[in-house]
Amino acid sequence: MISETDFIANHYSTELNQGNFIWSAPSNIALVKYWGKKQDQIPANQSLSFTLNKCKTITKLGFERRRFDKLSETNSTFSFDLLFEGQPKEDFKPKIHKFLERIEKYCPYLKNYHFTIDTQNTFPHSSGIASSASGMAALAMNIMSLEKELNPSMTEEYFYKKASFLARLGSGSACRSIKGSIVVWGEHQEIEESSNLFGVAFTSGVHSNFNNYQDTILLVDKGEKQVSSTLGHDLMHNHPFAAQRFLQAPENLSKLKSILENGNLEEFIKIVESEALTLHAMMMTSMPYFILMKPNTLAIINKIWSFRNETKIPVCFTLDAGANVHVLYPENNKNETLQFIKDELVGYCQNGQYICDEIGFGSQLILEN
Ligand code: DP6
Repeated sequence: MISETDFIANHYSTELNQGNFIWSAPSNIALVKYWGKKQDQIPANQSLSFTLNKCKTITKLGFERRRFDKLSETNSTFSFDLLFEGQPKEDFKPKIHKFLERIEKYCPYLKNYHFTIDTQNTFPHSSGIASSASGMAALAMNIMSLEKELNPSMTEEYFYKKASFLARLGSGSACRSIKGSIVVWGEHQEIEESSNLFGVAFTSGVHSNFNNYQDTILLVDKGEKQVSSTLGHDLMHNHPFAAQRFLQAPENLSKLKSILENGNLEEFIKIVESEALTLHAMMMTSMPYFILMKPNTLAIINKIWSFRNETKIPVCFTLDAGANVHVLYPENNKNETLQFIKDELVGYCQNGQYICDEIGFGSQLILEN
């Protein structure tokens, strides 16, 4: 079995002086939720997500070898500039700095370079859509491209595994934004090669009902989150229902595995909606407790339930750690569901904003050095 030490880069050339890469990485939406973690970004339970297609971060990584002319200068610090949509963005720097610190052990070459990280999202800034997953994934892909230049004999398998491993150290859910349309993170006996260290593509035969599965994201509240995910994860320590939750998640993943294979949408809906509500139930029952749903979140959920009852169209919802609602439905039902969303749900969105997305494939290389 692969372990952390397998990801320490130890034989690489030092020839590379400068260059740049551009990678895009998508956001993902968890169907079985990751909520709770152990030391070093190890998840307390397994999770499974759909990779999105249109919501992504595009990051350009420029790098040049640092020169240390004076004896007093050493490569004891990281050196990087951070741009967001081409403009310097100081407030993003601490998060990136922390990420670089966490991954340095595995990428000891980082301090030899000065980096220019220029990043942008395809979705509106502060839309409440988490950019940490796509952002950390895009940066991890770029760093792996640099590492591959230093060590050209690296296999493709190792490249993607380590990219997911590094992304996880930036933000847990980011490890599910590297490769694959459906990704599992966390060791699970029914998922081959699954690991707590990185995400793996779900490769069992996925039923055609899930081809191009649609996700329309309703932007209910674009405000800053009241509680960061990191804090929320921490509140699962000493949580009265944590032990039960950590047993439930792998069971739900087992059930979902069969459902993804047999295409039973009625059962799919039950697991997905229950997972979303359980996530929020964990928040409501932690100490301190908090509620991230807004009145409009509940109004939308009720509308979805009525629509589903009346039409028998298999539309369901999921939530992430916020008030926005992800409306999930098969491609076959796209027209009537979009009409329903426009007629009945858009009124609950802030400034009427929503984003039509669907299952995607993972990160993509846009510019090679
Ligand atoms: C509710 O991955 O954002 O979206 O590891 O602290 O960066 P950190 O947390 P993060 O947590 C995501 C939580 C979630 C569920 C999920 O995506 O599985």
